Amino acid sequence: MAFVPQLVLALLLAGTCLGEPPPRPQASTATRTVDGITTIYNFGDSLSDTGNLARQGAAGLLRYTTRLPYGVTIGHATGRCSDGYLMIDFLARDLGLPLLNPYLDKSTDFTHGVNFAVAGATALNTTALAAKGITVPHTNSSLDVQIGWFKEFMSSTTNSPREIREKLKKSLVMLGEIGGNDYNYAFLQTWPIDGGYSLDNVTRMIESVAKAVDLIPDVVKTIVSAAKELLDMGATRVVIPGNFPLGCVPSYMSAVNATDPVAYDGRGCLVALNLFARLHNAWLRRAIGELRRPGVMAARAAVPPWPRVPASDQFHHRRMHVRRLICLDLS
Ligand SMILES: *[C@@H]1O[C@H](CO)[C@@H](O)[C@H](O)[C@H]1NC(C)=O
Ligand SMILES: *[C@@H]1O[C@H](CO)[C@@H](O)[C@H](O)[C@H]1NC(C)=O
Ligand SMILES: *[C@@H]1O[C@H](CO)[C@@H](O)[C@H](O)[C@H]1NC(C)=O
Ligand SMILES: *[C@@H]1O[C@H](CO)[C@@H](O)[C@H](O)[C@H]1NC(C)=O
Repeated sequence: MAFVPQLVLALLLAGTCLGEPPPRPQASTATRTVDGITTIYNFGDSLSDTGNLARQGAAGLLRYTTRLPYGVTIGHATGRCSDGYLMIDFLARDLGLPLLNPYLDKSTDFTHGVNFAVAGATALNTTALAAKGITVPHTNSSLDVQIGWFKEFMSSTTNSPREIREKLKKSLVMLGEIGGNDYNYAFLQTWPIDGGYSLDNVTRMIESVAKAVDLIPDVVKTIVSAAKELLDMGATRVVIPGNFPLGCVPSYMSAVNATDPVAYDGRGCLVALNLFARLHNAWLRRAIGELRRPGVMAARAAVPPWPRVPASDQFHHRRMHVRRLICLDLS
């Protein structure tokens, strides 16, 4: 029974969880492990990048993440799109492991896992998005590129596929959140940009959401086939987070100055964007269900109410994400 792979769709949403103090940068690894997990492999975007984009040369809006006040609660900027730590940091700490080092920092220690996430990364690759008229502004390190890095890493640190299976048996694989940027870039394509987002027109918002809906099947297919590949290589615990309530994201909310009350839900978040996120999640959940096979168990984390967040913040993600992590249910 020890080999029963677990495929977990975790919707990282929390309304009631309280923040915790940030983890120490190098937690002791000798203290405890959880469920035999000694390594974490993480794929994703700015929600979990701990310094890859900074090493690729962050440009544009994301350039700001490489200097203070980003990282201000840690004391220095790390390339994390946050004022402090991210969910993945708290997850590592809660599993008794050191913080995950970014893959592109070749000087560091990857004994307890690797972070392949790159801020701005998409699920679909640049070519596939270009074919849909969508330009990728920040990085070409889409999910297939990150999976490629993972394979390179695994083959360079093991001697056989069997050894890879052994390694993965003791690992947690975090596959996402990824795909959110595919949609963000689709939105940006249709929303006029004036030093940021501008979205005071509800009709236009609904039109661009409709356009992004077209992307959902391909985005989900890409995520699920990556999961399949990882399971085939021997992964036994794969967490596939859903998208978060986009309509409550501070950067969207502060950009949207909709005067029309129908644009907002009871929590003051943007209705169309939250519906869109739910649609992506429903589609993803169904595809994960189809991925189920003998020996693979699909579980789902509890989904607490979506959070209410302040309408503006200078930080890309704020600590809202950190609070979510505390609710991540790995059982
Ligand atoms: C991009 O993704 C598409 C669809 O998955 C794939 O067919 C194509 O080979 C990929 N292109 C590159 C350059 O990786
Ligand atoms: C992505 O790849 C294209 C084609 O190789 C290149 O022109 C572009 O500069 C790359 N973009 C980024 C952000 O690296
Ligand atoms: C809102 O956007 C739609 C679609 O782009 C456009 O036709 C309409 O004129 C806009 N309305 C206002 C008040 O800007
Ligand atoms: C939002 O719109 C109102 C009315 O159109 C305007 O007075 C206000 O300055 C706008 N706020 C922002 C932050 O753009």
